[in-house]
Amino acid sequence: MRAPLRVDTQPLWDPAVIEAARRLLHEPKSLPAWLFYDAAGSALFERITELPEYYLTRTEEALLEAEAEDILARAFAGPDPGRYPRAWPERAPVIAELGAGTARKTERLLRAALRREPAPAYLPGDVSGSALRAAWERLAAGCPALRVAPVCGPHEALFAALARLPQRKLVLFIGSSIGNYEPDEAQALLRRLHEVLQPGDALLLGTDMCKPLEVLLPAYDDAAQVTAQFNLNMLARLNREAGARFDPGRFRHIALWNAAASRIEMHLESRCSQQVPVAALGIALRFREGERIHTENSHKYDAASVDRLLHGAGFRREHSWHDAKQWFGLHLARA
Ligand code: AVJ
Repeated sequence: MRAPLRVDTQPLWDPAVIEAARRLLHEPKSLPAWLFYDAAGSALFERITELPEYYLTRTEEALLEAEAEDILARAFAGPDPGRYPRAWPERAPVIAELGAGTARKTERLLRAALRREPAPAYLPGDVSGSALRAAWERLAAGCPALRVAPVCGPHEALFAALARLPQRKLVLFIGSSIGNYEPDEAQALLRRLHEVLQPGDALLLGTDMCKPLEVLLPAYDDAAQVTAQFNLNMLARLNREAGARFDPGRFRHIALWNAAASRIEMHLESRCSQQVPVAALGIALRFREGERIHTENSHKYDAASVDRLLHGAGFRREHSWHDAKQWFGLHLARA
């Protein structure tokens, strides 16, 4: 018998990325949408937000800009719940954000908060460290009175931080990020948020609304192919972080409307029959020609589905703001 070979090694692959790649072992193959957002993917997403076809970001940003004062007045309205044991600045309200990214849109709201409060705190949460660092650097330079405490990690990391804070809170979940979740997952996530909030705290939820397909589809399949690059970057990321050997040129970007589920879906379709070794999985994946990897859902809402979601999670919707075309919605809900 041979002696076992023992070597001390650092774990080579991030367990979360391996877990994501394992979804390719089952059919239909899929990958989780959070995998988009490494440094390259976060930069591509920033470019998406500036595309002429991608109406979401600019519509929501204009809404935030126009309604910032009203949003804050409503969010922090009503009697002080009296749960502040100490004096200022601990009393100052907290604005937290799930999936803050570079927080460019949020800056509108934060500037309005600074006009109301001497020292509000901002807790941006995100899985992308590079995006959070960009947010922090810009805010430290542009809004020095704002107390910024970034939380890098999954939503649960921000929930844990929120659960320890006694201050009155407004939690932002904007950008239609909720749209990535299946309805039951979305409700479970908001229910979990509701658990760490206290009565009187508020949630501002941003949802993309149902609209004609002539507008929706190009937003996810732009002429400059930036969204295609964003989608294909998932494969490049698995090459970099899971020792995979994907040739992105052998996959095609697909965006389609799933009417039954009221969502845009993104897929990567194999252009040929192929095998792709993935070192972190210790096997080669097989793809048939035309086989798809489902990479993203982007749900589109109407008033009824927003209410179902919020009420099912224990929130009470107090007010909604829409743009003139009703393409995007911001909803203020009370815990
Ligand atoms: C960041 C989830 C809002 O669903 O529109 C953009 C991501 N995907 N283009 C969206 C995305 C393709 C985006 N969200």
